[in-house]
Amino acid sequence: MESILLFIYLIASITFILGLKMLSNPKSARKGNTVAALGMGLAIIGTIVLYTNDSGEHLGNHIWILCGLMIGGVIGTMSAKKVQMTAMPQMVSLFNGMGGACAALISIIEFKHLVHDFKPELYAGGGYTYFSTLDGASLLVIMAGLIIGTVSFTGSMIAWAKLDGRLNDYAFNGQHIVNMLMLGITVALTGMILFLRPEETITFFYAVLALAFVYGILFVLPIGGADMPVVISLLNSFTGIAAACGGFLYDNSAMLTGGILVGAAGTLLTVLMCNAMNRSLLNVLIGSFGASAQGGQNTGMQGTYKEMSISDASVLMSYSSKVVIVPGYGLAVAQAQHACHELEKLLTEKGVEVTYAIHPVAGRMPGHMNVLLAEADVPYEKLKEMEEINDEFPSVDAVLILGANDVVNPAAKTDPSSPIYGMPILDVELAKHVIVNKRSMKPGYAGIENELFFRPKTSMLFGDSKKVLQDLIAEIKNL
Ligand code: TAP
Repeated sequence: MESILLFIYLIASITFILGLKMLSNPKSARKGNTVAALGMGLAIIGTIVLYTNDSGEHLGNHIWILCGLMIGGVIGTMSAKKVQMTAMPQMVSLFNGMGGACAALISIIEFKHLVHDFKPELYAGGGYTYFSTLDGASLLVIMAGLIIGTVSFTGSMIAWAKLDGRLNDYAFNGQHIVNMLMLGITVALTGMILFLRPEETITFFYAVLALAFVYGILFVLPIGGADMPVVISLLNSFTGIAAACGGFLYDNSAMLTGGILVGAAGTLLTVLMCNAMNRSLLNVLIGSFGASAQGGQNTGMQGTYKEMSISDASVLMSYSSKVVIVPGYGLAVAQAQHACHELEKLLTEKGVEVTYAIHPVAGRMPGHMNVLLAEADVPYEKLKEMEEINDEFPSVDAVLILGANDVVNPAAKTDPSSPIYGMPILDVELAKHVIVNKRSMKPGYAGIENELFFRPKTSMLFGDSKKVLQDLIAEIKNL
């Protein structure tokens, strides 16, 4: 039995690795997700049916387990089907928080077992502490799972509430010092527990739980909305590490591998996102870019801009030989991906070469634009990464910017005082003409003016992206 279960865990671990590999390419991403989910399903069923403890007993509570699986499965499936693409970061945050809570619950249960099953008679003289017993290592893993899982749970809940517009950023003077102090006390108490007798540890254990709970809230509360996807990715890696602690405790290789993969992938994604925004993780966690974002510090108009009509834009694009479309957050808000694909096909039929320029942090989550355009069946070959397309802009006749703002803001290169200074951007102004579609002159997520809108080559095409695209399509068909 045990060797069959081990084999199942091995297969599950392999499916996690294969699934993750397949997720790195949009063409195989869906399949990757299914492969990893099948592996997880296999590991769960295998555990329920085949697991036996040291005394050879099978898992009990089958009804409870099945009820939990069904309730979780139904809620998960329904919310995943219903969620709007623009609300995806909230959902990721919510689900991640649940993972953190599970890891923390495992620690609470296993701590109770550890204290309850302790055998003082093994330690003659009574001078035992956890540090002097074989249970010391287990206790450390339990504490790590408790702290990391709880921080991930409460932090993710705050991130969800902020992204969902239910909670505003909140910070008080000296908050970072309070946070550091709380973290310090949590670690110190954890160290102390090791040097106590098992029966003396219970109060300290729950004090650590309470501190981690509050720390997760205070850690995420002051971080600005624009930085939230980075924080969610970081919390995601926390959950992975906390789950790996559970895998270690239960000697469960599938749980260990899954946790380590999530932890490593989350950490890498956090670093990649910070690099794409040219910010350090410390700057994201205690910096001010996010704080200035979303509320917006509009610096006022920088000059005059010119507007363009639908018919002028249609003529310009139809008689161009090369057009690049730059999708941004506004395209997702307008849900205009299908209209966008239709315009691209129409222009292609007219002999225009059309491609898409994808900025790594366009939208509100990693790969947001790729997922959005894939939803409309835009061929993946038409999507060009920033590094690749930036070299091509000088040979482009017209750039059509659809609801993008910060990712095409030249201040990132020219204005050292700008909060986005240093962030790599799409060099759209190297093209011959730039058409910017958005609804107003309001700033983007970083809350700053965009001087591109006032440049001589730029023309504004105001309106909701979907409506504007539909009008462009109708006009081009009549040309
Ligand atoms: P933004 O800078 O947020 O600009 C989006 C623009 O879309 C807005 O200026 C808005 O202007 C316009 N818009 C909104 N709804 C629209 C609609 N229905 N039709 C037409 N236009 C509409 O977007 P971006 O250029 O994609 O940049 C992303 C930002 O998010 C960056 O600052 C990035 O650092 C940040 N961020 C992204 C991520 C990831 S991983 N993607 C993570 C963290 C932070 P109007 O209101 O005038 O229409």
